[in-house]
Amino acid sequence: MCLRGNAMNKNFSGSRRRRPRILRALPALRRVVGQWRARRDVIALVPTMGALHAGHLALVRLARRPADRVVVSIFVNPTQFAANEDLATYPRTFTADITALEGARADLIWAPSIATMYPVGFATRIVPEGPAFAGLEDAFRPHFFAGVATVVAKLLIQCEPDIAIFGEKDYQQLIVVRRLTRDLGLKTRIAGVPTIREPDGLALSSRNSYLSAKERAAAPILYRVLSRCGAEIAMGKSIANVLARGRAAIKAAGFALDYLEARDSVTLAPLGETEGQSIRLLVAARIGKTRLIDNVGVKIAR
Ligand code: PAJ
Repeated sequence: MCLRGNAMNKNFSGSRRRRPRILRALPALRRVVGQWRARRDVIALVPTMGALHAGHLALVRLARRPADRVVVSIFVNPTQFAANEDLATYPRTFTADITALEGARADLIWAPSIATMYPVGFATRIVPEGPAFAGLEDAFRPHFFAGVATVVAKLLIQCEPDIAIFGEKDYQQLIVVRRLTRDLGLKTRIAGVPTIREPDGLALSSRNSYLSAKERAAAPILYRVLSRCGAEIAMGKSIANVLARGRAAIKAAGFALDYLEARDSVTLAPLGETEGQSIRLLVAARIGKTRLIDNVGVKIAR
């Protein structure tokens, strides 16, 4: 990240922790952001839905590096959940989140109400195309990216960040958000952060708390299969055969597989004939009531 603000001189406060300020209303947010912008502070935003874990906190710590001011938004966005999904049961751990964000040295928690984000009469949505129709998450959660694009655009407009940090864990989301900021001409730079994992490889996710002990024991197969497929593709094996074996292994471990696909890592388009294409492997699978997603990049040996 090449943005350099006044972080070196303004943020130096030794190891002393300061409780992040919590704002819930737009006028107050605008006032604070306006003051920061007047000082030419570099502002970073980390959008989240709360239930924070070490993956989220890695994003916050990374945001700290180029920024003078780090805003973390916590908003469980109803428009990205379908009626049959887990909006009602999505974990909400606000008090623990505040403590964790204090440790990660966030300056501000933007925690708007649903009425603030979606006022009565709300009638404007952003419906992304291109990578949002890659036949991956969109094929199983058709409502999802319009909900994400609308809320992320609103958060970027509200917080006016110079940089916004997203996890590679939700890879299609990252690509959709990159496209969105370019298409709307927003000034915010989008940075992607590699996935933080449990020691056994399972990608950290707020939804891992839904897993029973048995399901949790099975869950690392997703990363194992992704890693093995990636290594075999890098060795030059047939992608179709590698993926077919990977799909079978995931099903044999008790998962209902939504997809295991190899795509162009920049556009998410299906792989073409072009040599040297950069490849991303993406998976989504359900075990019990829990749907897990993961992905890895493929390093082609040259
Ligand atoms: P949420 O699932 O809370 O994730 C917030 C951010 O944390 C996302 O950018 C996500 O990719 C990142 N993240 C989650 N798990 C991670 C892990 N194990 N390693 C690294 N990063 C990880 O994604 C959303 O919220 C929402 O869709 C949101 C963008 C906030 C819009 O509502």
